[in-house]
Amino acid sequence: MHGILPRMTSLEHSTVRVGLLGAGTVGSALMGLASRRRDSGFQVSQVLVQDLKKSRPASVAKELLTLDPDEVVSNSDILVDVMGGVGLATKLTLRFLESGKTVVTANKAALAERWSDFIPHFAEGRIHFEAAVMAGTPVVGPLWQVLRSSQPLELHAILNGTCNYIVGQLEAGISYPEALAEAQRLGFAEADPTLDVGGYDTAHKLCLLARLGFSPELLWESVKSDTRGINHLTPMIIREVMEQGGRVRLVGSVVPRDESWRLCVRPVILPEDHPLISASGSKNGLLFRGDPVGEVLISGPGAGGGPTASAVLADIEAVVQGRSGPKQPTFAASVPRDYSFEDLVELE
Ligand code: HSE
Repeated sequence: MHGILPRMTSLEHSTVRVGLLGAGTVGSALMGLASRRRDSGFQVSQVLVQDLKKSRPASVAKELLTLDPDEVVSNSDILVDVMGGVGLATKLTLRFLESGKTVVTANKAALAERWSDFIPHFAEGRIHFEAAVMAGTPVVGPLWQVLRSSQPLELHAILNGTCNYIVGQLEAGISYPEALAEAQRLGFAEADPTLDVGGYDTAHKLCLLARLGFSPELLWESVKSDTRGINHLTPMIIREVMEQGGRVRLVGSVVPRDESWRLCVRPVILPEDHPLISASGSKNGLLFRGDPVGEVLISGPGAGGGPTASAVLADIEAVVQGRSGPKQPTFAASVPRDYSFEDLVELE
Protein backbone atom coordinates (compact mmCIF):
# COMPACT_ATOMS: atom_id res chain seq x y z
CA MET A 1 0.00 0.00 0.00
CA HIS A 2 1.33 3.44 -0.90
CA GLY A 3 1.09 6.50 1.36
CA ILE A 4 -0.35 8.74 -1.35
CA LEU A 5 -3.47 7.89 -3.31
CA PRO A 6 -4.60 9.67 -6.50
CA ARG A 7 -7.71 11.65 -5.67
CA MET A 8 -10.05 9.92 -8.12
CA THR A 9 -9.31 6.41 -6.84
CA SER A 10 -11.76 5.15 -4.24
CA LEU A 11 -10.29 4.54 -0.78
CA GLU A 12 -10.34 1.11 0.74
CA HIS A 13 -12.64 1.01 3.73
CA SER A 14 -9.84 0.05 6.12
CA THR A 15 -7.49 2.77 4.99
CA VAL A 16 -7.38 5.92 7.11
CA ARG A 17 -7.81 9.05 4.99
CA VAL A 18 -5.44 11.88 5.91
CA GLY A 19 -6.35 15.40 4.85
CA LEU A 20 -3.50 17.91 4.78
CA LEU A 21 -3.84 21.63 5.38
CA GLY A 22 -0.90 23.11 3.48
CA ALA A 23 1.67 21.91 0.95
CA GLY A 24 4.55 24.24 1.83
CA THR A 25 7.98 23.21 3.13
CA VAL A 26 6.63 20.76 5.72
CA GLY A 27 3.62 19.56 3.71
CA SER A 28 5.70 18.69 0.67
CA ALA A 29 8.36 16.94 2.79
CA LEU A 30 5.58 14.97 4.48
CA MET A 31 4.11 13.88 1.15
CA GLY A 32 7.56 12.70 0.07
CA LEU A 33 7.97 10.69 3.28
CA ALA A 34 4.43 9.29 3.16
CA SER A 35 4.80 8.15 -0.45
CA ARG A 36 7.74 5.94 0.59
CA ARG A 37 5.83 4.37 3.48
CA ARG A 38 4.55 0.83 2.90
CA ASP A 39 1.72 -0.79 4.85
CA SER A 40 1.24 2.35 6.91
CA GLY A 41 -2.55 2.00 7.05
CA PHE A 42 -3.17 5.57 5.87
CA GLN A 43 -3.28 7.52 2.66
CA VAL A 44 -3.02 11.24 2.03
CA SER A 45 -6.37 11.79 0.37
CA GLN A 46 -6.58 15.56 -0.13
CA VAL A 47 -4.43 18.64 0.36
CA LEU A 48 -5.78 22.13 0.93
CA VAL A 49 -3.74 24.87 -0.75
CA GLN A 50 -4.33 28.53 -1.50
CA ASP A 51 -2.92 28.53 -5.03
CA LEU A 52 -3.23 25.54 -7.38
CA LYS A 53 -0.73 26.98 -9.87
CA LYS A 54 2.20 27.54 -7.51
CA SER A 55 5.30 25.53 -8.39
CA ARG A 56 5.83 22.67 -5.92
CA PRO A 57 8.27 19.78 -5.49
CA ALA A 58 7.54 16.53 -7.35
CA SER A 59 6.55 14.90 -4.03
CA VAL A 60 3.31 16.91 -4.10
CA ALA A 61 0.77 14.94 -6.16
CA LYS A 62 -1.13 17.64 -8.08
CA GLU A 63 -4.30 15.56 -8.34
CA LEU A 64 -4.70 15.72 -4.53
CA LEU A 65 -4.70 19.51 -4.33
CA THR A 66 -7.90 21.43 -3.66
CA LEU A 67 -8.92 24.99 -2.85
CA ASP A 68 -12.04 23.80 -1.02
CA PRO A 69 -11.66 23.60 2.79
CA ASP A 70 -15.04 21.90 3.23
CA GLU A 71 -14.03 19.10 0.90
CA VAL A 72 -10.91 18.32 2.94
CA VAL A 73 -12.69 18.51 6.29
CA SER A 74 -15.57 16.27 5.18
CA ASN A 75 -13.47 13.65 3.39
CA SER A 76 -10.75 13.03 6.01
CA ASP A 77 -10.47 10.72 9.00
CA ILE A 78 -7.44 12.62 10.35
CA LEU A 79 -6.73 16.28 9.65
CA VAL A 80 -3.09 17.42 9.59
CA ASP A 81 -2.30 21.10 10.07
CA VAL A 82 0.99 22.02 8.45
CA MET A 83 -0.40 25.34 7.21
CA GLY A 84 -0.06 27.14 10.53
CA GLY A 85 -1.43 30.43 11.80
CA VAL A 86 -4.43 31.40 13.88
CA GLY A 87 -6.73 32.01 10.89
CA LEU A 88 -8.15 29.44 8.47
CA ALA A 89 -6.13 26.44 9.70
CA THR A 90 -7.22 27.01 13.30
CA LYS A 91 -10.87 27.39 12.30
CA LEU A 92 -10.77 24.13 10.32
CA THR A 93 -8.95 22.07 12.96
CA LEU A 94 -11.38 23.21 15.66
CA ARG A 95 -14.33 22.35 13.43
CA PHE A 96 -12.82 18.93 12.75
CA LEU A 97 -12.21 18.28 16.46
CA GLU A 98 -15.75 19.31 17.29
CA SER A 99 -16.96 16.56 14.96
CA GLY A 100 -15.20 14.05 17.24
CA LYS A 101 -12.22 13.33 14.97
CA THR A 102 -8.47 13.53 15.61
CA VAL A 103 -5.98 16.20 14.56
CA VAL A 104 -2.21 16.08 14.05
CA THR A 105 -0.73 19.55 14.13
CA ALA A 106 2.53 21.44 13.87
CA ASN A 107 0.64 24.70 14.53
CA LYS A 108 2.18 26.05 17.71
CA ALA A 109 0.57 29.50 17.27
CA ALA A 110 -2.93 28.00 17.31
CA LEU A 111 -2.28 25.87 20.39
CA ALA A 112 -0.55 28.68 22.29
CA GLU A 113 -3.06 31.42 21.52
CA ARG A 114 -6.32 29.40 21.36
CA TRP A 115 -5.51 26.84 24.11
CA SER A 116 -8.88 27.16 25.85
CA ASP A 117 -10.72 26.20 22.63
CA PHE A 118 -8.56 23.09 22.29
CA ILE A 119 -8.79 21.97 25.94
CA PRO A 120 -11.90 19.73 25.67
CA HIS A 121 -10.24 17.80 22.84
CA PHE A 122 -6.96 17.45 24.77
CA ALA A 123 -8.89 15.76 27.52
CA GLU A 124 -9.79 13.06 25.00
CA GLY A 125 -6.23 12.75 23.65
CA ARG A 126 -7.37 13.77 20.15
CA ILE A 127 -4.64 16.35 19.47
CA HIS A 128 -1.16 15.11 18.54
CA PHE A 129 1.44 17.88 18.37
CA GLU A 130 4.97 16.53 18.74
CA ALA A 131 5.94 18.49 15.59
CA ALA A 132 4.84 21.82 17.07
CA VAL A 133 7.91 22.13 19.32
CA MET A 134 11.49 21.23 18.28
CA ALA A 135 10.25 19.44 15.12
CA GLY A 136 11.41 15.79 15.08
CA THR A 137 13.37 16.10 18.32
CA PRO A 138 11.05 14.67 20.99
CA VAL A 139 10.11 17.08 23.78
CA VAL A 140 6.30 17.14 23.92
CA GLY A 141 6.15 13.42 24.80
CA PRO A 142 8.88 13.59 27.49
CA LEU A 143 7.36 16.67 29.13
CA TRP A 144 3.86 15.28 29.56
CA GLN A 145 5.03 11.79 30.41
CA VAL A 146 8.33 10.85 32.04
CA LEU A 147 9.33 14.31 33.29
CA ARG A 148 5.97 14.88 35.01
CA SER A 149 7.00 12.54 37.81
CA SER A 150 9.61 15.09 38.96
CA GLN A 151 8.95 18.41 40.64
CA PRO A 152 9.82 20.93 37.88
CA LEU A 153 12.31 23.59 38.98
CA GLU A 154 13.23 25.47 35.81
CA LEU A 155 13.45 25.11 32.04
CA HIS A 156 15.58 26.99 29.52
CA ALA A 157 15.35 26.34 25.80
CA ILE A 158 16.47 27.42 22.36
CA LEU A 159 13.28 26.82 20.40
CA ASN A 160 13.61 28.73 17.16
CA GLY A 161 15.84 27.36 14.40
CA THR A 162 15.72 30.59 12.38
CA CYS A 163 17.03 32.73 15.26
CA ASN A 164 19.66 30.20 16.25
CA TYR A 165 20.83 30.00 12.65
CA ILE A 166 20.92 33.81 12.31
CA VAL A 167 22.89 34.26 15.54
CA GLY A 168 25.42 31.65 14.35
CA GLN A 169 25.78 33.53 11.05
CA LEU A 170 26.26 36.85 12.88
CA GLU A 171 29.06 35.18 14.88
CA ALA A 172 30.72 34.42 11.52
CA GLY A 173 30.44 38.11 10.54
CA ILE A 174 27.52 37.72 8.10
CA SER A 175 25.04 40.62 8.15
CA TYR A 176 21.59 40.24 9.68
CA PRO A 177 19.61 40.69 6.39
CA GLU A 178 21.82 38.15 4.60
CA ALA A 179 21.49 35.65 7.44
CA LEU A 180 17.68 36.02 7.53
CA ALA A 181 17.40 35.63 3.74
CA GLU A 182 19.42 32.40 3.93
CA ALA A 183 17.26 31.05 6.80
CA GLN A 184 14.20 31.72 4.63
CA ARG A 185 15.78 30.01 1.63
CA LEU A 186 16.59 26.95 3.77
CA GLY A 187 12.94 26.69 4.82
CA PHE A 188 13.37 27.40 8.55
CA ALA A 189 11.53 30.72 8.79
CA GLU A 190 7.78 31.18 9.21
CA ALA A 191 5.73 32.67 6.37
CA ASP A 192 5.89 35.84 8.45
CA PRO A 193 9.50 35.86 9.75
CA THR A 194 8.73 38.58 12.29
CA LEU A 195 7.23 35.75 14.36
CA ASP A 196 10.70 34.16 14.43
CA VAL A 197 12.96 37.16 14.93
CA GLY A 198 10.52 38.95 17.24
CA GLY A 199 10.68 35.98 19.63
CA TYR A 200 6.98 35.08 19.30
CA ASP A 201 7.52 31.66 17.74
CA THR A 202 9.77 30.77 20.70
CA ALA A 203 7.10 32.16 23.02
CA HIS A 204 4.39 29.99 21.40
CA LYS A 205 6.49 26.86 21.88
CA LEU A 206 7.58 27.78 25.41
CA CYS A 207 3.96 28.31 26.39
CA LEU A 208 3.05 24.78 25.23
CA LEU A 209 5.97 23.17 27.05
CA ALA A 210 5.21 25.08 30.24
CA ARG A 211 1.55 24.05 30.17
CA LEU A 212 2.52 20.41 29.78
CA GLY A 213 5.35 20.32 32.30
CA PHE A 214 4.54 23.07 34.83
CA SER A 215 0.96 24.33 34.88
CA PRO A 216 -1.94 23.98 32.42
CA GLU A 217 -3.20 27.41 33.45
CA LEU A 218 -0.29 29.47 32.11
CA LEU A 219 -1.52 32.27 29.86
CA TRP A 220 -0.28 33.22 26.40
CA GLU A 221 -0.63 36.93 27.24
CA SER A 222 1.83 36.69 30.11
CA VAL A 223 4.64 35.20 28.01
CA LYS A 224 3.82 37.47 25.05
CA SER A 225 4.30 40.56 27.21
CA ASP A 226 7.67 39.22 28.44
CA THR A 227 9.11 38.46 24.98
CA ARG A 228 12.02 40.11 23.18
CA GLY A 229 13.54 39.03 19.90
CA ILE A 230 16.86 39.29 18.07
CA ASN A 231 16.04 41.90 15.44
CA HIS A 232 18.34 44.49 17.03
CA LEU A 233 21.46 42.27 16.92
CA THR A 234 24.49 43.00 14.74
CA PRO A 235 27.78 41.15 14.17
CA MET A 236 29.45 43.85 16.30
CA ILE A 237 27.27 43.23 19.35
CA ILE A 238 27.78 39.47 19.01
CA ARG A 239 31.56 39.86 18.64
CA GLU A 240 31.83 42.06 21.74
CA VAL A 241 30.10 39.35 23.79
CA MET A 242 32.34 36.66 22.30
CA GLU A 243 35.46 38.67 23.17
CA GLN A 244 34.36 38.48 26.80
CA GLY A 245 33.94 34.69 26.65
CA GLY A 246 30.16 34.61 26.14
CA ARG A 247 27.75 33.59 23.37
CA VAL A 248 24.43 35.26 22.55
CA ARG A 249 21.39 32.98 22.17
CA LEU A 250 17.63 33.56 22.09
CA VAL A 251 16.34 31.54 25.04
CA GLY A 252 12.86 30.92 26.43
CA SER A 253 12.76 30.22 30.16
CA VAL A 254 10.30 29.02 32.79
CA VAL A 255 11.51 29.93 36.28
CA PRO A 256 9.87 30.27 39.70
CA ARG A 257 8.97 33.82 40.69
CA ASP A 258 6.79 35.06 43.57
CA GLU A 259 4.94 31.78 44.11
CA SER A 260 4.19 31.58 40.41
CA TRP A 261 6.03 30.71 37.20
CA ARG A 262 7.64 33.38 35.05
CA LEU A 263 7.73 32.64 31.31
CA CYS A 264 10.02 34.88 29.27
CA VAL A 265 11.87 34.97 25.95
CA ARG A 266 14.96 37.11 25.50
CA PRO A 267 18.48 37.16 24.06
CA VAL A 268 20.87 36.03 26.80
CA ILE A 269 24.63 35.75 27.21
CA LEU A 270 25.57 32.12 27.87
CA PRO A 271 29.02 31.05 29.03
CA GLU A 272 30.81 29.03 26.34
CA ASP A 273 30.51 25.82 28.34
CA HIS A 274 26.74 26.14 28.91
CA PRO A 275 24.91 22.92 27.89
CA LEU A 276 22.61 24.79 25.46
CA ILE A 277 25.60 25.93 23.36
CA SER A 278 25.74 22.41 21.90
CA ALA A 279 22.59 23.29 19.89
CA SER A 280 24.20 25.11 16.97
CA GLY A 281 22.90 26.29 13.59
CA SER A 282 19.18 25.59 13.15
CA LYS A 283 19.23 23.05 15.99
CA ASN A 284 17.20 23.49 19.18
CA GLY A 285 18.04 22.56 22.76
CA LEU A 286 16.06 22.19 25.96
CA LEU A 287 17.43 22.08 29.49
CA PHE A 288 15.00 20.90 32.18
CA ARG A 289 15.81 20.82 35.87
CA GLY A 290 13.59 18.76 38.14
CA ASP A 291 13.62 16.96 41.45
CA PRO A 292 14.59 14.12 41.66
CA VAL A 293 15.48 13.66 37.98
CA GLY A 294 18.19 16.37 37.96
CA GLU A 295 19.32 18.10 34.79
CA VAL A 296 17.96 16.78 31.47
CA LEU A 297 19.28 18.08 28.14
CA ILE A 298 17.44 17.35 24.90
CA SER A 299 18.94 18.68 21.71
CA GLY A 300 18.47 18.14 17.98
CA PRO A 301 16.94 19.47 14.76
CA GLY A 302 14.25 22.05 15.44
CA ALA A 303 13.11 23.38 12.07
CA GLY A 304 12.93 22.57 8.37
CA GLY A 305 10.86 20.29 6.16
CA GLY A 306 12.37 16.85 6.87
CA PRO A 307 12.76 17.16 10.66
CA THR A 308 9.24 18.57 11.09
CA ALA A 309 7.61 16.13 8.66
CA SER A 310 9.19 13.18 10.50
CA ALA A 311 7.40 14.17 13.72
CA VAL A 312 4.11 14.72 11.87
CA LEU A 313 4.42 11.29 10.29
CA ALA A 314 5.11 9.65 13.67
CA ASP A 315 1.98 11.32 15.06
CA ILE A 316 -0.16 10.18 12.10
CA GLU A 317 1.07 6.64 12.65
CA ALA A 318 0.28 6.91 16.37
CA VAL A 319 -3.32 7.86 15.50
CA VAL A 320 -3.62 5.03 12.97
CA GLN A 321 -2.40 2.62 15.65
CA GLY A 322 -4.99 3.95 18.10
CA ARG A 323 -2.58 5.69 20.50
CA SER A 324 -3.73 8.74 22.47
CA GLY A 325 -2.22 12.20 22.09
CA PRO A 326 -0.91 14.18 25.07
CA LYS A 327 -3.52 14.85 27.73
CA GLN A 328 -3.48 18.13 29.56
CA PRO A 329 -2.21 17.65 33.11
CA THR A 330 -5.08 17.93 35.55
CA PHE A 331 -3.01 19.73 38.20
CA ALA A 332 -0.37 22.45 38.29
CA ALA A 333 3.03 21.54 39.70
CA SER A 334 3.70 23.42 42.93
CA VAL A 335 6.14 26.32 42.68
CA PRO A 336 9.28 25.48 44.71
CA ARG A 337 9.56 27.95 47.63
CA ASP A 338 13.16 27.58 48.74
CA TYR A 339 14.76 26.73 45.42
CA SER A 340 17.49 29.21 44.58
CA PHE A 341 18.82 29.45 41.05
CA GLU A 342 21.01 31.75 39.04
CA ASP A 343 18.98 33.31 36.21
CA LEU A 344 20.56 33.65 32.77
CA VAL A 345 22.17 36.98 31.96
CA GLU A 346 19.89 38.98 29.67
CA LEU A 347 21.54 40.92 26.83
CA GLU A 348 20.60 44.59 27.20
N1 HSE B 1 10.15 28.99 12.05
C1 HSE B 1 10.36 27.92 12.97
C2 HSE B 1 11.80 27.94 13.44
C3 HSE B 1 10.03 26.62 12.30
O1 HSE B 1 12.62 28.63 12.81
O2 HSE B 1 12.12 27.29 14.41
C4 HSE B 1 9.94 25.44 13.23
O3 HSE B 1 8.92 25.58 14.17
